Amino acid sequence: MGSYFENVYADKVVLITGHTGFKGSWLSLWLKELGAKVIGYSLEPPTKPNLFEAINLKDKVTHIVGDVRNEVYLTSIFKKFQPEFVFHLAAQSLVRLSYKLPKLTYETNVIGTVNVLEAVRKTESVRVCVVITSDKCYENIEWIYGYRETDPVGGYDPYSSSKGCAELVISAYRRSFFNPKDYGKTHNVALSSVRAGNVIGGGDWGEDRLIPDCVRALSKRETVIIRNPSAIRPWQYVLEPLSGYLLLGALMYKDGTRYNDAWNFGPNEESIITVEELVKLVIKHWGNGNYTMDISKHPHEAAFLKLDISKARALIGWKPIYDIYKAVEKTISWYLNFYNGMQKEMLYEFTVREIVEYINSMGIKYG
Ligand SMILES: NC(=O)c1ccc[n+]([C@@H]2O[C@H](COP(=O)([O-])OP(=O)(O)OC[C@H]3O[C@@H](n4cnc5c(N)ncnc54)[C@H](O)[C@@H]3O)[C@@H](O)[C@H]2O)c1
Repeated sequence: MGSYFENVYADKVVLITGHTGFKGSWLSLWLKELGAKVIGYSLEPPTKPNLFEAINLKDKVTHIVGDVRNEVYLTSIFKKFQPEFVFHLAAQSLVRLSYKLPKLTYETNVIGTVNVLEAVRKTESVRVCVVITSDKCYENIEWIYGYRETDPVGGYDPYSSSKGCAELVISAYRRSFFNPKDYGKTHNVALSSVRAGNVIGGGDWGEDRLIPDCVRALSKRETVIIRNPSAIRPWQYVLEPLSGYLLLGALMYKDGTRYNDAWNFGPNEESIITVEELVKLVIKHWGNGNYTMDISKHPHEAAFLKLDISKARALIGWKPIYDIYKAVEKTISWYLNFYNGMQKEMLYEFTVREIVEYINSMGIKYG
């Protein structure tokens, strides 16, 4: 896999926060396959089961259990391993939990981001820092148009607003400490934030997330219960935003002044479907099962959320590869392997092959 992203990641020290989470595990695996030395810094995996343990990633990366709220320990890890790349994914990532634990959500997502950026400031080796926020960072006015990177950030619930706050922090740090016009003079850091949509893929067991809720029910032959059947979300296969993060990181490494900004990585318009349509697709690929609506009262959730991805298409040549049908097929085939008892090493190989197949479909070239 080394020749992809022009070998930028081969032999580089890459520090990933949130490597025990769903997206962090996929990203760690992909970077490891690209030849990077992956240093993971996170709390223990947030769910049982989880992808990190399901494919035994602990043996393949440097696994450090640490809290992003602990600035001293976090900084000591930066100092010890001297990363050139940082991908910050660690977060309290659940909207519904953020209603129960707003303070923890802000401390993790906002102060945690400040701590990562402080550690970057204090570690001279860092050249590239990509902070993963969310499509939910935008002030959602429930319109049918996709949000652009220049639209105001905000957020109705504590999770969304914490990601909006993180965006403000990143923007302030970029202007105050990592300003592109001072690159190579007062600092050597390219800093970007990335906003992706509702990510689906094998190995997610997050609470109150649609695909995990479906597979939890289907694997026990229970009825899937859905809350907001007509809600529309920018669903995308997990490797889509990750390919965007990696491509962006590689470009930022080569040119430290040109790509330091906010970037949307969402699906094509055709893949933006309702919750109910998605559940029907999941059941079709699972082979059997049914669903019902839960009409009781729930905390506020947006009805519409779309991302405009024109900027990533035009300026870095990124584009979505899998449509929603392929994304669901790939996602469910991973879970079927897991629930059919595939051994860890085989599941690891299968997961790597999913990345290779995705790369082969990308036909990427950048620059
Ligand atoms: N999954 C999605 O659909 C989606 C969509 C948009 C944005 N995001 C963002 O992408 C990132 C990764 O999401 P995910 O789906 O992998 O989430 P996840 O919940 O599966 O993983 C979260 C990770 O953060 C770690 N973590 C949580 N609190 C921590 C703390 N205080 N200190 C250190 N580590 C901590 C967990 O241990 C885990 O490794 C998050 O920033 C999330 O907000 C996810």
